[in-house]
Amino acid sequence: MNPDRHILITGGAGYIGSLLTSELLRTNYRVTVADSLLFGGESLVPFLHHPNFHFVKADVTEPRAVKDALRGDRVEAAWPKPDAIVHLAAIVGFPACQAVGKQVAWRYNVEATKTVFEQAVALGAERFVFASTYSNYGLSSNGAPVTEESPLNPQSLYAETKIAAEEYLLGRKDAPTAPLLFRFATLYGISPRTRFDLIINQFVLDAYTKRQLLIYQRGYSRSFVHVRDVVNGILLGLDAPQAKIRGQVYNLGTDTGNYTKDQIVNLVLKRMPETMVEYKDLTFGGDMRDITVSFAKIKRELGFETTLDVDDGIRELLFALKTGLIRNPMDEKYRNAQFIVQ
Ligand SMILES: NC(=O)c1ccc[n+]([C@@H]2O[C@H](COP(=O)([O-])OP(=O)(O)OC[C@H]3O[C@@H](n4cnc5c(N)ncnc54)[C@H](O)[C@@H]3O)[C@@H](O)[C@H]2O)c1
Repeated sequence: MNPDRHILITGGAGYIGSLLTSELLRTNYRVTVADSLLFGGESLVPFLHHPNFHFVKADVTEPRAVKDALRGDRVEAAWPKPDAIVHLAAIVGFPACQAVGKQVAWRYNVEATKTVFEQAVALGAERFVFASTYSNYGLSSNGAPVTEESPLNPQSLYAETKIAAEEYLLGRKDAPTAPLLFRFATLYGISPRTRFDLIINQFVLDAYTKRQLLIYQRGYSRSFVHVRDVVNGILLGLDAPQAKIRGQVYNLGTDTGNYTKDQIVNLVLKRMPETMVEYKDLTFGGDMRDITVSFAKIKRELGFETTLDVDDGIRELLFALKTGLIRNPMDEKYRNAQFIVQ
């Protein structure tokens, strides 16, 4: 129980943020969400009357957005200052970054990270959790699993912005607020704001609605983690001793979550064997990733273990689609961009 702990989440209405909000409230944290609601805010509606929940519609590219989010009698006078900021707000993914262009992507993903971090310092927050991505590793040169020490080889504007933000935060590792950087694997699974523009979620949707899958670069390896396990990892980061997190980078995922696309397709086929699969070899200048990732560090240092696997994710996605829990999965609110890169 954490009655005195207050966490501020930027991007808390999103895929990860809405599930993180729910989990923090369940375990008695106070939660402030600052989000500009790019994809709507239905994900937060169930929390509106929760006494420990505070929402502000705010654009964190604005210089005082985080500080202003904490103003007002309810929070400013009665709640402790946030002891951590979890910074999730971003233009997420290669297609979305490409769609808004370099200048905007940089303002959202790099400049806003600096601004939010400086406000965290000014507010006296103890830690700052940053959501980065294993896209930073790009294509591996020799096939060996990449670790946090491996060279970065970005293949997209999205990864370039995340690397620039990481570099800034690592340069501030001795600031009063401790930066902690997670490089997430590709997520899958259901959250209050499910995304269907992520590869596993998209494959399940296509197999279910079209009985058909079109696969590019079938042999490429990627790394996957369930959204609930990402939330568990962030919670570990919020609780870990400073010495374990200050200026640290952790790959967040599991060694058993490294799969080729073919293997993912086979897991989808196991649940929907009638699906027709067509393969194409196409090289496009997207966010190409062909890597295996090592998650030894997060396991060793933070004791992180995943609780769900890809088959669990496929089953829950199918359940949500079949029952109508998610009634209109083609709605644009489930996607960050209109085209999807596997
Ligand atoms: N989902 C993945 O597979 C994945 C993988 C690696 C890293 N990440 C990172 O995790 C974080 C969260 O990802 P997600 O999948 O939950 O994305 P999401 O798009 O579902 O959520 C992002 C949220 O941020 C908000 N937002 C964007 N710009 C904002 C701004 N300027 N001010 C306030 N709010 C703003 C959006 O409204 C949205 O609610 C991102 O930083 C992303 O880069 C995600």
